Amino acid sequence: MNPEMNERIVGAAPAGARDRESAARAVREMFTSIAPRYDLLNHVLSFNIDRLWWWRTARSFDAILKRPEARVLDLCCGTGDMTFALRRRAGSATPQILGADFSHAMLQRAAAKAEKGSGATLGWIEADALRLPFPDGHFNLVTSAFGFRNLADYDAGLREIARVLAPGGECGILDFGEPGGLLGQAYRVYFKHVLPAIGTMLSGVRGPYAYLPASVERFPPPDEMLARMRQAGFREASCTPYTFGIAGLYRGVSSG
Ligand SMILES: C[S@@+](CC[C@H](N)C(=O)[O-])C[C@H]1O[C@@H](n2cnc3c(N)ncnc32)[C@H](O)[C@@H]1O
Repeated sequence: MNPEMNERIVGAAPAGARDRESAARAVREMFTSIAPRYDLLNHVLSFNIDRLWWWRTARSFDAILKRPEARVLDLCCGTGDMTFALRRRAGSATPQILGADFSHAMLQRAAAKAEKGSGATLGWIEADALRLPFPDGHFNLVTSAFGFRNLADYDAGLREIARVLAPGGECGILDFGEPGGLLGQAYRVYFKHVLPAIGTMLSGVRGPYAYLPASVERFPPPDEMLARMRQAGFREASCTPYTFGIAGLYRGVSSG
């Protein structure tokens, strides 16, 4: 890896954050403040394409999800839609699936949705992705949808995912990307101007929807992210673009 990449901590930096701790606190407060309207805003602002992305991600891990003894962790699960997509793909198999998030308000909504729906075999845990309360090698699959980008230290996040994965276990990180070309230009107008305006209006909170495009701009481009994954101990690191690169799925296998 380029030595310069090792010298700086790369991670989310919400306005006003000075260090890793204050960045994490700001992120948690931000999601807690929008928790009541998070689902509605997600679906409106993504024109419901988010459902397709969660489904495609879950489908990529069919082989693990169909194993009855598999242990699966959905990190930064928020209100649980990625977690529910994993549960649905498992079908009649009974892997243990846990959703983890450090915002109590987001988790409460996930748990409430599970009670109403098909989530009887799911579990929820309040935990920080950078300090997971699990032993080494515990999981066969760790996913994270639109959460990883919010970590205050991406390398520490990747190392923690690698730590809790069993040798040969897989990781799937779904997050936003920046499409190129003409479509990319039109998308940027939407993402940087229209989306923050609608998000602020519907949520009644200003910060989070201005932070969203800024956080995507800060997120490493695919080549760099893949290099960071390899450095954290993942082999077969790959990135599959979704919907012209508006989102993408990073995959890797723990070398253990
Ligand atoms: C954009 S939401 C994504 C929620 C869900 N995965 C989805 O696809 O809708 C990001 C979530 O990541 C959580 N998060 C951010 N940093 C975290 C950390 N260090 N530890 C645990 N959760 C974190 C936030 O609380 C928030 O619920």
